[in-house]
Amino acid sequence: MAESKSSPVFDAQKVTVIYVLGGPGAGNVIGKGTQCSKLVDAFGFCHLSAGDLLREEQNRDGSQYGELIRTCIREGTIVPSHVTIKLLENAMTEEVKKRTGDGWTDGRGRFLIDGFPRKLDQAVGFDETVCLASLVIFFDTTEDVMLERLLERAKTSGREDDNVETIRKRFRTYNEQTMPVIEYYKTLDKVAEIDSTVSVEQVYRVASATVSKLFS
Ligand code: C5P
Ligand code: MG
Repeated sequence: MAESKSSPVFDAQKVTVIYVLGGPGAGNVIGKGTQCSKLVDAFGFCHLSAGDLLREEQNRDGSQYGELIRTCIREGTIVPSHVTIKLLENAMTEEVKKRTGDGWTDGRGRFLIDGFPRKLDQAVGFDETVCLASLVIFFDTTEDVMLERLLERAKTSGREDDNVETIRKRFRTYNEQTMPVIEYYKTLDKVAEIDSTVSVEQVYRVASATVSKLFS
């Protein structure tokens, strides 16, 4: 007998999910973080960073996943998808419950999920069990630009994974595991690829126009 698939926790008609991807270090490095906060201000998104949620869980007393997360982050590999998906689902549930205002009434919500999905099983798992994503914003730049700026960040970030060796591994993980995610969503016509080598203002103009279309 065929097993029937259970439906996602959130109805995509009410909850809008946009995935935000860029290469390793795209956060402050190519301004992905800045773009996200501008989109948050303009459209009332809740911004969730998968990496931040993982670091928080890693440091939470009594977490059964702390060691696993620490090892993956140190090695620049992807944390098993069920862990990250559950952290995101929990954060979304809390936000939908407590938040009110434009776009957030009657179980509605809008999320920018940053640094996710980095691997195909995260993508399919989240879409099927948590919420079907509407769009993937892909902030695109070159490895050279990312490496240069990551090494700059390394001077002050205090992050254990901002060193040349781990950065190389993160590039490799990105090329091998994250690029297929982008290709997958391209086949579904859900990718907005935005060249991020131009100015913050130029990038934002494209990003906000893209997001506007979803809510029009
Ligand atoms: O996004 P960020 O660079 O902060 O991620 C840091 C690390 O967290 C990644 O190199 C990876 O080990 C882990 N991560 C993950 N899955 C994600 C996001 C981050 O395994 N979707
Ligand atoms: Mg980040």
